[in-house]
Amino acid sequence: MTDYKNPHLLLETAEVEPGEISWRSPSNLAILKYWGKHGIQLPKNPSLSLTLSSSFTETLLEYRPKEGGDRDISLEFFFHEEPNEPFREKVVKFLESVTDIFPFLRQLDLTMYTGNSFPHSAGIASSASAMSALALCLCSLEHELFNTLDDDAGFDRKSSFVARLGSGSACRSIFPTAALWGETGEITGSSDLYAVPMAGEVHTIFTTFHDDILMASTEAKSVSSRAGHGLMEGHPFAEARYADARRHLHRLIAAMRSGDLEEFGKICESEALTLHGLMLSSNPSYILLKPNTLEMIERLRQYREETKHPVFFSLDAGPNLHVLYPEDIIHDVRLFIEEELKPLCEKETYLQDWVGEGPVQE
Ligand code: PMV
Repeated sequence: MTDYKNPHLLLETAEVEPGEISWRSPSNLAILKYWGKHGIQLPKNPSLSLTLSSSFTETLLEYRPKEGGDRDISLEFFFHEEPNEPFREKVVKFLESVTDIFPFLRQLDLTMYTGNSFPHSAGIASSASAMSALALCLCSLEHELFNTLDDDAGFDRKSSFVARLGSGSACRSIFPTAALWGETGEITGSSDLYAVPMAGEVHTIFTTFHDDILMASTEAKSVSSRAGHGLMEGHPFAEARYADARRHLHRLIAAMRSGDLEEFGKICESEALTLHGLMLSSNPSYILLKPNTLEMIERLRQYREETKHPVFFSLDAGPNLHVLYPEDIIHDVRLFIEEELKPLCEKETYLQDWVGEGPVQE
C-alpha cells in the first residue's frame, strides 16, 4: 500500500531559488455520498461525484529557503488578502501532518494567499476546493524542486491522495467531469486512498450538466461533517447504508455510462435523502434541512411530473438544494427556478455552477 512517505525529499537550501506556485481548483458534488469513515480518512463506501466549475478556490504558495535551522512549519497566511489566524493554524496542522510525504516543507518559509470564488457564508463546503488546491500546490512544489512528478497520471494520483488527507471529498476534485473514490470491483484501479478519473466512463450528456445551488439558508452548520461522519460509528443503519451505497454504485455507473437520466435521477435523489435520513436517525439526532428546502423539493418534483424534464435535486451536508439538469433544458429550468424556487431562498440567492474541466495551474 503506497503512503508516499519519502525521507529523501530534502533540499540543499543554499541552491534553492525563491519561487511561487498557484492552482485554481473546483468544488465537487457527490451524487453517491461518502458518509462514514475509518482509519486515516478512509471511506466506508465508495463515492462518485461531478466536478464543478464556478465554485473554486485559488491558492498561491510562495516559498523561499529558510535562513535559520528551525524545523517548525513557517507559514504566513492570507485569506481574501487578510491574515486569518484560525485558518492559518488549520493549514499549519495539515502541513505538519504531511511532512513525511514532503519533508522539505520544514526547510522553507512559506506564504499562502487563498480565496474562494463563492461567498464565505454561502453555506457551500469549501473544504473540497481548498484542500485540493493546496494538495496540487504541494505536488507542484515537489516537482519544481525535485523533478519527481513528470507523469500526469502519477501527479494527479498523488495530489488526490494528499487532498484526501485534508478532507475526504477533496480527493475527487482533482479530475475533470466526474471522479470515483473508494475501492470497488466495478472500476479497475479504484482505491480507498485516492480518487480515479471517470470522465472516460460517463456519457457525454453529463459534461453538459448544470448544478444551480439554491440557498435555503446561509447559517453556519449546527453539526460539522467531521462530527457527522463520527456519528456513523454505532449508527443502527450503518451496515445497511454501506451495502445500499454499493448497490447504488453499481446502478449509478451503468446509468452514467448509458446516459439513462431517469435512473441517474432516482439514485441521485435517494442518496441525498439517505444522507439526511442518516442524520435524522443518528444518536444524537440532528436536522440540517430547513422547511424551505422541503418546499423546494416538492415544487421540483411537481415541476418534473408536469414537464417530464430530467431535472433532479441533490443535497450536501446542509440545507441548500442542488438542482441538476442537462444544458438542453436550461431555458425552461431557469424560468422555473426564477419563478418558483428563487423566492424561497434566503435573500433570493442562488449560485449557478456546472460540470467542469477540473483544476488549472495558473
Ligand atoms: O469531505 P468531508 O469530510 O467534508 O465529507 C463530505 C461529506 C459529503 O459532502 C456529505 C458527501 C461527499 O461525498 O462529498
